[in-house]
Amino acid sequence: MKFSAILAVASVLSAAVAHPLQHKRAINDTALEEAIPASTGKKTGDNIQTSYGKPFAVYQPKAFVISMFELERDPWLKALDFIHNITVPGLSPLYPTIHCTTNYTICQITTGEGEINAAASVTALTLNPLFDLTKTYFLIAGIAGGEPQYTTLGGVTFAKYAVQVGLEYQLDFLDYNNTNPDWISGYIPYGTDNQDTYPGNVYGTEVFEVNEKLRDRAVELALKVDLNNGTEANAKFRALYNETAARGLPSVYKCDVLTSDNYFTGNRLGDYFANLTKLMSNGSATYCSTAQEDNASLEAFTRLDKYGLVDFDRVVVMRTISDFSRPPPSLSNDTYKFFFDSNQGGIDASLENLVLAGTPLIHDIITNWDKVYEKGQKYSSKNYVGDIYGTLGGTPDFGKSSFEIA
Ligand SMILES: *[C@@H]1O[C@H](CO)[C@@H](O)[C@H](O)[C@H]1NC(C)=O
Ligand SMILES: *[C@@H]1O[C@H](CO)[C@@H](O)[C@H](O)[C@H]1NC(C)=O
Ligand SMILES: *[C@@H]1O[C@H](CO)[C@@H](O)[C@H](O)[C@H]1NC(C)=O
Ligand SMILES: *[C@@H]1O[C@H](CO)[C@@H](O)[C@H](O)[C@H]1NC(C)=O
Ligand SMILES: *[C@@H]1O[C@H](CO)[C@@H](O)[C@H](O)[C@H]1NC(C)=O
Ligand SMILES: *[C@@H]1O[C@H](CO)[C@@H](O)[C@H](O)[C@H]1NC(C)=O
Ligand SMILES: *[C@@H]1O[C@H](CO)[C@@H](O)[C@H](O)[C@H]1NC(C)=O
Ligand SMILES: *[C@@H]1O[C@H](CO)[C@@H](O)[C@H](O)[C@H]1NC(C)=O
Ligand SMILES: *[C@@H]1O[C@H](CO)[C@@H](O)[C@H](O)[C@H]1NC(C)=O
Ligand SMILES: *[C@@H]1O[C@H](CO)[C@@H](O)[C@H](O)[C@H]1NC(C)=O
Repeated sequence: MKFSAILAVASVLSAAVAHPLQHKRAINDTALEEAIPASTGKKTGDNIQTSYGKPFAVYQPKAFVISMFELERDPWLKALDFIHNITVPGLSPLYPTIHCTTNYTICQITTGEGEINAAASVTALTLNPLFDLTKTYFLIAGIAGGEPQYTTLGGVTFAKYAVQVGLEYQLDFLDYNNTNPDWISGYIPYGTDNQDTYPGNVYGTEVFEVNEKLRDRAVELALKVDLNNGTEANAKFRALYNETAARGLPSVYKCDVLTSDNYFTGNRLGDYFANLTKLMSNGSATYCSTAQEDNASLEAFTRLDKYGLVDFDRVVVMRTISDFSRPPPSLSNDTYKFFFDSNQGGIDASLENLVLAGTPLIHDIITNWDKVYEKGQKYSSKNYVGDIYGTLGGTPDFGKSSFEIA
């Protein structure tokens, strides 16, 4: 059905009740003519800057939960009373529908998995003319692999940095083994010829930094809840590790997420990407959770913040741990068995803890909207926020002073 037809049907169906889709959305030709300079018919070498507000927006959610796939979405659909389904052009064919509560106060989107789905879906949402997201808080809430040194099965991590580690050259082992036997992996940062050098050129999505103060508020609130501790089998698997964090019960941690379309596992790539995270963030970021989307979503938010359509300062990145990103010592010679044939005890605790740990922030936002969150001053960032280019202003505290952009 065409969008116009949907609008027509919606307005008929809702004739009796106040419904936002009743608002007229016809193009005003007079206003258009005034806004667009008359063409002279000549090539003028225009440099037209396009930017727009959202005069037709009818939804102004205060909080938006971002899930990546069904398993991450469903606990939210169960926990909150989402009574509105809104289909939005440009979302994943698997998840074309946004869910909202009464009055469109809290909404939820499922982006689809991986960097392409996340970037495309978040862009489509944030450009949609029906949504005014200028004051909306976004909670990216997904599951992730966890580093045993910092977290455990069911653990909840809130990131300040998101680092994209897949943007690299890659050689297969058999192709470098005879010349570079000391290499830990076949990954090499762009613009360099070795593993450990800061990239000579960047694409701009390698590192994002989000609002630390808001992140810390989310952590403070999440620390007060009773997390789901997981299954007996989770407990058994945790006990295989030596690290205190891995052996313990799930808690809430401040540490950083990395993004890679490539779903890697094991000690060597874990070590290599941990190093790369330090390198890319000037030593600031500590990689503890691995995901496939966050940098992509943050890239979309960065671009839209630049035109005032969202507030990058209002983004929180939360990842709960569904499985370990590297084997316990007893399986260190058998990463295959660890990854494909081990029972880590199931991912239910990580799924449930998405809601348990994320809800207090959402509740805080709704309850204290007028006093605190609408203006956004109390938790406004004190750290640099944004990408490696300084797109949103300020000077990144990572990276280096100049890059070749390639
Ligand atoms: C269309 O735009 C013009 C100029 O901005 C305005 O005067 C007029 O009221 C608008 N018409 C409608 C139907 O909104
Ligand atoms: C809204 O979407 C959910 C999940 O996608 C679905 O279970 C539910 O049936 C939908 N509700 C309506 C009224 O279509
Ligand atoms: C929804 O909006 C109406 C009208 O502004 C208000 O009376 C009602 O309390 C709101 N409901 C919720 C759940 O916020
Ligand atoms: C990905 O995002 C994280 C923060 O969530 C940031 O620290 C990291 O630098 C980003 N990486 C890339 C490659 O964009
Ligand atoms: C890798 O190279 C070393 C010598 O540098 C050789 O002993 C080993 O067999 C090679 N391994 C493979 C899988 O090619
Ligand atoms: C998890 O374990 C801790 C420590 O024993 C306990 O305080 C907490 O209540 C448990 N959580 C749940 C949901 O049972
Ligand atoms: C882990 O602990 C076991 C027993 O306490 C010890 O033998 C082993 O060396 C430790 N492994 C690592 C990697 O620390
Ligand atoms: C990580 O960095 C440390 C210190 O520079 C180095 O000793 C180690 O070999 C590196 N590991 C990997 C996997 O690159
Ligand atoms: C790993 O080491 C254990 C203990 O030394 C051994 O029993 C097992 O066969 C090894 N597995 C592989 C895949 O090498
Ligand atoms: C990187 O860290 C060093 C040492 O902490 C600091 O002097 C330098 O200014 C930082 N670089 C950037 C780009 O912030």
